[in-house]
Amino acid sequence: MEEFTKEQLAKYNGQDGEKCYIAYQGKVYDVTESMLWDEGDHQGMHEGGIDLTEEMDDSPHDDDVMEDFPVVGTLVE
Ligand code: HEM
Repeated sequence: MEEFTKEQLAKYNGQDGEKCYIAYQGKVYDVTESMLWDEGDHQGMHEGGIDLTEEMDDSPHDDDVMEDFPVVGTLVE
């Protein structure tokens, strides 16, 4: 499986036709198909291309929202 550093992940911010990837608990998910991540923006609060593991606790939903999206890699140091 592909490995992403934080720097490599940042490229996939969902803007200008780029794919939207987000990292959660060490896995990198492709949420490009989600209307809720259009242009890499989630509720005006979060952006694509970053590790959002710590932010999940502040969200109104559980982490089962991640299950619908493909894992495309792992986040490495
Ligand atoms: C879906 C709000 C943070 C990932 C949703 C939905 C809402 C929402 C309203 C749609 C309804 C639902 O599934 O409950 C927020 C707010 C956040 C937040 C206000 C701010 C604290 C996060 C974080 C992540 C995330 C930190 C990722 C680590 C997702 C995903 C979906 C989703 C993947 C499903 C999208 C889809 O089905 O198309 N969020 N969320 N959210 N959220 Fe969040």
